[in-house]
Amino acid sequence: MKTALSSFFILLVCINCSSPKKVTAPGGLGVVSDEAMVVSAHPLASQVGISILKQGGNAVDAAIATQFALAVVYPAAGNIGGGGFMVIRKSNGEVDALDYREAAPAQATRDMYLADNGDVVEKLSTRGHLAAGVPGSVDGMVKAYKKYGSLPWRDLLQPAVDLASRGFRLTAREARGLNNLEDNLREYNTIMPEFLFGDWQEGDSIRWPELAKTLERIRDNGRAGFYSGKTANDIVAEMERGNGIMTLQDLADYQSVWRAPVTGYYKGYRIISMSPPSSGGIALLQLLNSIESQNIGKLGHNSAQAVHLMTEAERRVYADRATHLGDPDFYNVPQSELLSTAYLENRMADYDPENATPSDAVRAGDFARVESEETTHFSIVDKNRMAVSVTTTLNGGYGSKVVVSGSGFLLNNEMDDFSIKPGFPNLYGLVGGEANAIEPKKRMLSSMTPTIVEKEGKLHMVVGTPGGSTIITSVFQALVNVLDHGMTMQEAVSAGRVHHQWKPDKIFFEKNALDQQTIDELTRRGHVLQQRSPYGKLDAILILPDGRLEGGADPRGDDTAIGY
Ligand code: DON
Repeated sequence: MKTALSSFFILLVCINCSSPKKVTAPGGLGVVSDEAMVVSAHPLASQVGISILKQGGNAVDAAIATQFALAVVYPAAGNIGGGGFMVIRKSNGEVDALDYREAAPAQATRDMYLADNGDVVEKLSTRGHLAAGVPGSVDGMVKAYKKYGSLPWRDLLQPAVDLASRGFRLTAREARGLNNLEDNLREYNTIMPEFLFGDWQEGDSIRWPELAKTLERIRDNGRAGFYSGKTANDIVAEMERGNGIMTLQDLADYQSVWRAPVTGYYKGYRIISMSPPSSGGIALLQLLNSIESQNIGKLGHNSAQAVHLMTEAERRVYADRATHLGDPDFYNVPQSELLSTAYLENRMADYDPENATPSDAVRAGDFARVESEETTHFSIVDKNRMAVSVTTTLNGGYGSKVVVSGSGFLLNNEMDDFSIKPGFPNLYGLVGGEANAIEPKKRMLSSMTPTIVEKEGKLHMVVGTPGGSTIITSVFQALVNVLDHGMTMQEAVSAGRVHHQWKPDKIFFEKNALDQQTIDELTRRGHVLQQRSPYGKLDAILILPDGRLEGGADPRGDDTAIGY
């Protein structure tokens, strides 16, 4: 039952991923440029980012402008009502990471999504006002700017203000997304966001007048333009109308946090990725280190042997994720233990190259000290080779479906990323327990994996993707595709993907990712396989041997690489 339920949830995720252009590697290079590159989920957002770089802004300036532009042109996931993570590598090699993940409101309780009989109340953590965590994106952009920004703040906001107030043309995919959203908007809003209703077609122009004003308040007042004054009052009024629990105090208290990124090595490449409260960086390093002793390049891309090896690593790592990972400010995450070579060798000690290990036989590792559809990614490299890797989200497509009336933006449904009941699968089929239980002001565990790779002390790759639980394995595959299988960035991004997450005990694969012979061979080894809709939108940049930049934009979406 649980397995069937989980697969059902997984299939629901990719609202915006239908009708892919191609999921197999088309071959060859992506967009190549000499100086700088922006790859994001929307052509207009990539244009905003590159124009900031051309004005002399650095990669963080461009990231801030891109985040705000995506909040307008890509409302399914771009946001000011959500949160995210930013991993930075400066030109001098110093690294940094910003956690602007949403936090639970102070009135949140462990069982807030359960009925009196202990059952989960359907959709309470995924739709409507109670699903929203306190948004982190605006504070995140303000903090990133204070530490690294170089152009005037208002110049970074103005492109988004202009897009929202003057309007922009919808892509076919976004028009479809908005049309499909209407019923949900009607169900979960107390005041109807009429401006979003219509029989939208590709090329139609859409404006977000209230959002334009909100962005102007942020442009003119920074943090105060969102966390106090009209925007904050509108959020709280929205909560009161919709039985939500977020208060003015919650908004005033929200702080994004600078954290040390997770770093480690894979075959001599230095991997720099996001630390908790995302599980992404730790899980990615665990995966890479679990397969490091095997020559996966020799096994062949998506061969039965390679998929088997990656799957066996994945089921062990996701079992650890479910038990050991949560907000480090609330839970003692055993990071060094999880990443120790001895531990990972031990985890793979019972790896059988011929036969699948049933997930029921795999548990999280034991440590003595532990008593105690829709996200978006963008990658940016500037002319000085400063790199920024950002994954940001409302969680599901268009988040909670609640538009803050008067301020014109969508609120996240990130609360569903908590373990709302031990063992109950979230939107992405992920299970969890104590480490990720709901507590006031705690951050919900994430899978977002914005990552930067160094080769011989120099910037080599910037990568990340949306896709809920599949984020970690998609980034894993992107790295292995380039570092072991010798693919170009575009090939690595386009290549068919395969995913396993411990529970449910299934290998999910995109059409064309595996041929029939490989499927048969994996089945013979004891794996259960299920084809699923295309997922994830990897947007990445690779430094070519001659120093130029190759942008890989995912053909599964409107993703666009622009360089100069
Ligand atoms: O933080 C997380 O892991 C999820 N909220 C991400 C959601 C996501 O990637 C949705 N995209 N398809």
